[in-house]
Amino acid sequence: MSKDNYYATSNPDCKSQETDFDRLSDIAISRRSFLKGAAYFGVSSFAVSAGLGLPSRKVEAATTRWLSFNPVKANSLDTVTVPEGFKWQTVVSWGDPMWSKGKAFDHVSRGNAASQALAFGDNCDGMKLFTHNGRSILACNNESINRSIIFGNRASGLPENVDDANKGVLAHGISIVELKNDNGDWVIVKDSRYNRKITPETQMEITGPARGHKLLQTAADPKGVASLGTWNNCGNGETPWGTYLTCEENFHGYFSSSDADMKIPPELKRYGIKAKDKGYGWALADERFDIARHPNEPNRAGYIVEIDPADPNSTPKKRTALGRFKHENAELVIAENGHVVVYLGDDERGEFLYKFVSAGKYSEMGNNRDLLEDGDLFVARFNADGSGKWLALTPETTGMSSKAEICIHTRQAASAVKATTMDRPEWVAANPNKAEAYCCLTNNINRGVKPNAGGDATPVGGPNPRKANKYGQIVRWQAANDDHTAEDFSWDLFVVAGNPAVHSDDRKGSGNVNADNMFNSPDGLKFDTRGGMWIQTDGKYSNKDDFAGMGNNQMLLGNTETGEINRFMVGPKECEVTGLTWSGDRKTMFVGIQHPGEKGDSHFPGGGDSVPRSTVIAISREDDGLIG
Ligand code: FEO
Ligand code: CA
Ligand code: CA
Repeated sequence: MSKDNYYATSNPDCKSQETDFDRLSDIAISRRSFLKGAAYFGVSSFAVSAGLGLPSRKVEAATTRWLSFNPVKANSLDTVTVPEGFKWQTVVSWGDPMWSKGKAFDHVSRGNAASQALAFGDNCDGMKLFTHNGRSILACNNESINRSIIFGNRASGLPENVDDANKGVLAHGISIVELKNDNGDWVIVKDSRYNRKITPETQMEITGPARGHKLLQTAADPKGVASLGTWNNCGNGETPWGTYLTCEENFHGYFSSSDADMKIPPELKRYGIKAKDKGYGWALADERFDIARHPNEPNRAGYIVEIDPADPNSTPKKRTALGRFKHENAELVIAENGHVVVYLGDDERGEFLYKFVSAGKYSEMGNNRDLLEDGDLFVARFNADGSGKWLALTPETTGMSSKAEICIHTRQAASAVKATTMDRPEWVAANPNKAEAYCCLTNNINRGVKPNAGGDATPVGGPNPRKANKYGQIVRWQAANDDHTAEDFSWDLFVVAGNPAVHSDDRKGSGNVNADNMFNSPDGLKFDTRGGMWIQTDGKYSNKDDFAGMGNNQMLLGNTETGEINRFMVGPKECEVTGLTWSGDRKTMFVGIQHPGEKGDSHFPGGGDSVPRSTVIAISREDDGLIG
C-alpha cells in the first residue's frame, strides 16, 4: 500500500438506514430533536447519530481521515488476524524475564514467586509507550491473573501454598519495561535502568483531599498517608507532563474476613466487599486483606495512581481527588481555559460516569506535577431530551461531611445527587479534534431488571436504551461551548451494538452495525492522533446464538464523522482485546491480548502444547508506513 492511500477519505458506502435508527432514536431521544440534528449533520450522521447538534458543534470537513484497509472477517481462530498489508508480532508475554538474572518462562512449572518477581505480569491491560531521552518505555497494567492457567501446574488450579499465592500477587500491578526496535522486531531491553515492577507490595503515597482521613488510617499506617501497593489495574491514562495513570478497578475481590459471620458495613457492601474473596487467598499470606482485622484497608484502594515511568525510584501517588470507585480508565484533556479535565468511568452495573476538573491550570513551562492533587468532582446526568449536566459532588449537594468523605465514598455521593445509572462505563476517549468524548457502555444484564448496589433504579432509556442489555453501546457527549469544564453537554449514541444476522428487533443494533462488522461488549476505546477511534471488545466469543457471526474478541476502527465502523483485527481464542498505544514514530501500534484460553482452549502465542499467555503484540504496516 502506498502512503498516498494511507489516509483515504471516509467510505461513501455508509448508508442511511432510517428505519433501524428510527427505532433506536425513538428510545434515545425525541423524534423532533432527531430530525433537527439530522439536518445539521447531513446524511452520513443521519444513519447513526441521535444528532443533537448544539450550535457550538462544528462539522469539520474531513477532519477524520482513515487508515485504508480491507476489513477482516470475524473468525474463531487461535491467532491474531490483521488486514492484508499489515503484520503482527509478539513483544512480551506473561512470565518473560525483564532482567537477565530471571529465568525464561517454564511451561511446566509456570514459574514461582521468585521468577515472577523478575518477570512481566499477567493479564496485560491498559498501557502507554513513553518516549524519554530517545528511549521507548512501556508502562503496562497487569490487571489480574488467570488462576486456572497461572496455577495450571496444580491439580486444583488454585494457589496451594504461600509461594503460589505470592506468585499470583507478583503477577499483578504494572510492568514498566524498555522496548527497542531490533531490525524491525520489537523486543524488551533486559536490565534497562527503566525496568520496574510495581506490585501490590510497592510503597505508595496517598495524596489529595482524603490523605490522612480517619477512614484511611490502619494499624500499619496510623496517619493514613501511605499505602502498600496497587492491584486490579485496568485501563490507563497519561498526562502531558509525562506520567502514567493506572486505574484500580475490581479491588474488592482480594479482601476477605477471618470472621465468616462478620456483618459487612454498608459502606463496604456498596463496593462489593464480602466475607469471601474471589479465590485469590491473599489474606492467608498478608493479614491486611482480612477486613475483620483491618476494616479500613479496602478504603485505601479504588483510586487513580500516578506513576513517573522515567524515574524508577519515584513513589507512586494515589490521587484521591479523582474519587474512589471501580476505575476503568482516566482520559485526560487540557481544557481551553487550562484546567485539567479527567473523564472517569465506574465499571459496574448501574454505576456512574464522572469528571474531575483540576483546581490549578496546566502550563507548558510550569510545574504541573501535582495538578491531580486537588479539584472538583462531577458525575453525569443524562436527560432523555439529549441534554445533560455534570453534577458537582460537594458537601452541600451530597450531604456528606467533607470533600475527603466524598473522595472515599464517591459512589454514595453520586447516588445522593441522583446521577444517571449507566450500563457499566468502560473506557472514555476524547476526540482530539473537538470538545467531545465517548464512553463504552459495555453491557448490563440488570438494566431495567434490578437496581444497582446502592438501590438506585436502572430505568431503560436515555443512553441506556435496552432492557437486560447484552450487546452494549457507545455514548458520546459534546461539551457546551466547546469547553470540557462546562457543566452542560449534549449527548447521543454513536453506536448501539447488536446482531442483525439473528435479530430483527432493537437487538439488531443501530444503522452502522451490519453482518460484516458486528461485535458485542465494547470496552477499550482510544483515539489515534488522526482522529480515528479504535474500539476493543471484551465480550462473548461463543460465535453462536445471540453472538453468532461475531467470532473472537476484536478491534475495530470507528469514524466519528460518518459512524462507519470496520473490523481491523481479530484476537485469538478466549481472549479479550484491551490496551492500545503507539511507538513514538507512529509506525507501530501495540495491542494487549488478555487471557487467551481463559477456558482452556488456546495455546496463544506459542502454539503446539504451550501454555496460553497474555501478550502485548505489535502491529505495523508491511510498507513501514504510519499506523495512527
Ligand atoms: Fe477491567 Fe472494566 O474492565
Ligand atoms: Ca476493560
Ligand atoms: Ca470488560
